[in-house]
Amino acid sequence: MKNNKKIIIANWKMNPASLKEGVKLLSDISKHVSSLENSEIVICPPSLFVISLMDQFSNFKFGLQNVFWHDKGAFTGEISAAMAKKSNIGYVIVGHSERREYLKETDEVINLKIKACLRNKIKPVVCIGETNRNDDQAIEYQLSAALTGIKKSQLKDIIIVYEPVWAISTHSQGVAAMPDDTFKGLILIKKALAKKFNIKNFFDPRNWVGKTSVATILYGGSVNSKNVSTFTSKIGFDGVLVGNASLNYREFSNLCLSV
Ligand code: PGA
Repeated sequence: MKNNKKIIIANWKMNPASLKEGVKLLSDISKHVSSLENSEIVICPPSLFVISLMDQFSNFKFGLQNVFWHDKGAFTGEISAAMAKKSNIGYVIVGHSERREYLKETDEVINLKIKACLRNKIKPVVCIGETNRNDDQAIEYQLSAALTGIKKSQLKDIIIVYEPVWAISTHSQGVAAMPDDTFKGLILIKKALAKKFNIKNFFDPRNWVGKTSVATILYGGSVNSKNVSTFTSKIGFDGVLVGNASLNYREFSNLCLSV
């Protein structure tokens, strides 16, 4: 991460039902979190709403929940990273478990999308997480496959999210992973990055904090206003990816103020 600010990424998924409701949600959040110096808020609404919301809310950054891997052409229904960049989009969520499951996105496709984002100077927000608790191999495999062909110098432009699938609110009834599990996940990811990119002294915190950080690593999965600081302050993640709690202005505002 280039600075010490925590990143809060709101993944609205296929919500809310209308642009009007999206405007209301962001207006309400804006009233409560107008002056956040220690964190950066990125809103990822449905792509249909994003341009209008960007025009109305310059106090937030915006991202998409998906892009295609080619920059232009005959790809019905798709949006390219090149188009997103021209519309001033700074972030794209890539490899979310819901897309892996429902859209059958493979590691290969995820890798192509990451490269499309980097080619277009957009930060990919790469979700990595095991479906079954303690499946460390799945985490390592997903990470390695996602970052195939990526150079060490590009790591600073990538946001990695440790998001155990079993801890996402729709699977866990809103119960986040235990701090120990997330710490283990964080270390596993750092270790895998250190191995893949030949990063010396990966236990040295100076490699991972603030301006010198080699990678930005967030936690996702049932994050709320009460547990957020455990992940950011205690465990040491650079921020969080928030689904369900980002759709309630009170909860999300409190979460932003508690990071
Ligand atoms: P959740 O979703 O916060 O509702 O668990 C997170 C996500 O799926 O990105």
